[in-house]
Amino acid sequence: MSLNIVLLPGDGIGPEVTDAAAKVLRAVCTLEGIELDLSEHAFGGAGIDDAGDPLPAETLSACLAADAIFLGAVGGPKWDGEAVRPEAGLLRLRQELAVYANLRPVKLMDCLADKSPLRSDRVEGTDILIVRELTGGLYFGAREEGEETANDSLTYTAPEVERVARIAFEAAKGRSGRLASVDKANVLATSRLWRAAVNRVHKDYPEVELEHVLVDAMAMHLIQKPSRFDVVVTENLFGDILSDEASVIAGSIGLLGSASLGDGKRGLYEPIHGSAPDIAGEGKANPVGAILSIAMLLRHSAGQEAAAQRIERAVEAVTRRGVRTVDVGGDAATWVVADAIAEEVTNAGNAFFAC
Ligand code: NAD
Ligand code: IPM
Ligand code: MN
Repeated sequence: MSLNIVLLPGDGIGPEVTDAAAKVLRAVCTLEGIELDLSEHAFGGAGIDDAGDPLPAETLSACLAADAIFLGAVGGPKWDGEAVRPEAGLLRLRQELAVYANLRPVKLMDCLADKSPLRSDRVEGTDILIVRELTGGLYFGAREEGEETANDSLTYTAPEVERVARIAFEAAKGRSGRLASVDKANVLATSRLWRAAVNRVHKDYPEVELEHVLVDAMAMHLIQKPSRFDVVVTENLFGDILSDEASVIAGSIGLLGSASLGDGKRGLYEPIHGSAPDIAGEGKANPVGAILSIAMLLRHSAGQEAAAQRIERAVEAVTRRGVRTVDVGGDAATWVVADAIAEEVTNAGNAFFAC
């Protein structure tokens, strides 16, 4: 098989984690005999510098023609004053690709339990899949920005909620069969519409146990007993906030990958962290979130489940051996961790084929 993958390194630590991700992607494709067509395009702040647009037309058409897109991260102080910020390019890209469901798995690696800010007995067994609605809500509502008054509007339609809920119910069906839908239905009209739409979709999934949780209480429950949750579905902004919170439970924001999916196979894959200007260029960025995003890419856009699992096993093996970046208690540079994972993928693969 052949794969046409677009890489958008972006800004800050984006290019560092993209190099790491590409290294592992190349290693696994060589092993599996997948013909890889990789191309890099300007995006985010780099797009503004290059073409005066965070999502240059040439970049967008390459993305639309690709099987999958990998994004490092965008944004940084350099572009904070721009009329169109790097982040606006990311929102437009998500909308153009119609990737309305953002899957963010938070799975604790046993060997990192002592790196969690929470006590080990509280985090043990944490394995959550956050399904974040990605192309609606406050991010895409009408906006007014004045000196005295500003306004962001929050709109959801029932079909927008139903399609992302369906993805979450399907995921729950394939896991432990529990789904928590998070909203603020005690205050927001959009949340009451959200809750009603989720209940309607539930009728098609009677085997899934559904609970509704208010977002403020969810922020607390996540810290108190994260292992209580399996699949969590929520709207765009709540999902953004709760996934950053959940990431550190597993050790570090640098560990989490994500898949943004729509109705077809094409997806956008990105670690959940940002461009981390505070550590950019220092080799301190944890590449694991980016590398796990590549595993998700192979799983969801290429149908290569075995290859995805090879990467996930290699990440775990290398982490267990202690080859880690500073954020998870190690002293290895980004590329050292990436090389070790790529090598582990190759060696474990060759050993497998030899027996
Ligand atoms: P951030 O995620 O970039 O950083 C938050 C903290 O986590 C920082 O201390 C950083 O050093 C650390 N961190 C992040 N990624 C890490 C990694 N891989 N390894 C080790 N440590 C890591 O969030 P921020 O500082 O609030 O935002 C910086 C910029 O990134 C902003 O412009 C923001 O808009 C942008 N951003 C982009 C994306 C994206 O491109 N998908 C996501 C989030 C934030
Ligand atoms: C994320 C980021 C983005 C978001 C920003 C950069 C627009 O925080 O992917 O989590 O809020 O969706
Ligand atoms: Mn975020």
